[in-house]
Amino acid sequence: MLGRNFAVVTILILILAQTGSLSSHHEAANWHCDSNTDSHLQAHFNPGRITLDGQVDDWKDIDGSAFSLLPALDPDEDKAYNGGKMTVKASHDGKEVFFMLQVDSDYTYSEGFSNKTASVAFMFQIGENASYHRMGGCEGPDTCTNKSCKGHEVDLMHFSIGKAIPGRLYGGNLVDNSEGNGGDRFGHLGDVYGWNPHCRYLDGYGPSGNDTSAQNDWKGTWWHSSLTDSGFVKDDSPYSSSNQSGAYYFEFSRSLRTMDHLQQDAQFTIGKTSKMSVAFWYPIDGKPWHGSGHFSISCDWIQLDILPDGSELTKVPQRSPWDAATAFSLLFSVVAFCISIFVGHRVSRTKNVPFTPMNDL
Ligand SMILES: *[C@@H]1O[C@H](CO)[C@@H](O)[C@H](O)[C@H]1NC(C)=O
Ligand SMILES: *[C@@H]1O[C@H](CO)[C@@H](O)[C@H](O)[C@H]1NC(C)=O
Ligand SMILES: *[C@@H]1O[C@H](CO)[C@@H](O)[C@H](O)[C@H]1NC(C)=O
Ligand SMILES: *[C@@H]1O[C@H](CO)[C@@H](O)[C@H](O)[C@H]1NC(C)=O
Ligand SMILES: *[C@@H]1O[C@H](CO)[C@@H](O)[C@H](O)[C@H]1NC(C)=O
Repeated sequence: MLGRNFAVVTILILILAQTGSLSSHHEAANWHCDSNTDSHLQAHFNPGRITLDGQVDDWKDIDGSAFSLLPALDPDEDKAYNGGKMTVKASHDGKEVFFMLQVDSDYTYSEGFSNKTASVAFMFQIGENASYHRMGGCEGPDTCTNKSCKGHEVDLMHFSIGKAIPGRLYGGNLVDNSEGNGGDRFGHLGDVYGWNPHCRYLDGYGPSGNDTSAQNDWKGTWWHSSLTDSGFVKDDSPYSSSNQSGAYYFEFSRSLRTMDHLQQDAQFTIGKTSKMSVAFWYPIDGKPWHGSGHFSISCDWIQLDILPDGSELTKVPQRSPWDAATAFSLLFSVVAFCISIFVGHRVSRTKNVPFTPMNDL
């Protein structure tokens, strides 16, 4: 019980701390965005391809995009993350959507200190008026509510790995989901929503009340290429030696549709495009990161296409209409037709048999 409350309080403190540091860190006065708004990330239909284990070999035949990571509050090429680009890939199996993030960074992990290691987040547009800039961009009164900010909802997923063991799965779990919120006390992989940088809540929580119908719909895991073992447990921390060069891998999945009825989850539709972005935190020069000190793959939404089966690369060769099954079913129906004529003929012939009343027998 104590551990539970502690975890909830820790998450709240983390969120409050991030909100606090956001208020004190203002974005560049001349914030402007030169984005290529036509960036498309394509999720093809690939059933039975991806295992959520932190290993990325299963993604090698799936095309992704590489993005420079620019500071979210000052998207200037000169200030890009110097470790390299982030590769983002997406896929779906008709039920779940999968994401893979890969970014070159030296290994760093400090148990219990999320801000001393890599961290990632997704943002998706929910409300049609939600802008990328300022996380939904709800302006107006100091307090946001689902009424005053209607139309500016963004869906967030944040994974802070200070507690999470590499290769293990975090996110939606029975304990937090039974309480009906988007928290994850085990791994800090939270399902969050917001209207602007100052108004962010775990799914289910809100300024005008809590609703216990919410869930954490995400699952995810992380890995670093310098790790050689697998089947890590908590006592193995820190898993590898500090500052080893390599890449962090993150894998996530979520149902295309969720049970949300509060406008707190983005809903994905096969054949449709959604708007998203990805953020990255890293302790540059060993200095702990803070909430607003993140990099972003773009300074505007990028397009996420959830492609139907049969589109482009996954196209299956079309068989001729006269394949074996069609021929067989035609033969079968001809035989059935002949039998029915024969039976009909027999029945009509037996009509000539004189009728014998029952009581005469
Ligand atoms: C980093 O996280 C630790 C533990 O949560 C906290 O005590 C510390 O203040 C954080 N540092 C910064 C710069 O946010
Ligand atoms: C979005 O903004 C437009 C123009 O201000 C408005 O007409 C529309 O109702 C808004 N949509 C929502 C969902 O609030
Ligand atoms: C706002 O949220 C509260 C609490 O979850 C809910 O009772 C109310 O119906 C919501 N209002 C709107 C306009 O969605
Ligand atoms: C919602 O839940 C949070 C966390 O348990 C709590 O701090 C907050 O007071 C609750 N809000 C309302 C309006 O009950
Ligand atoms: C790793 O790099 C950071 C930042 O450059 C430095 O502060 C730290 O001492 C290094 N750690 C080790 C074990 O070399």
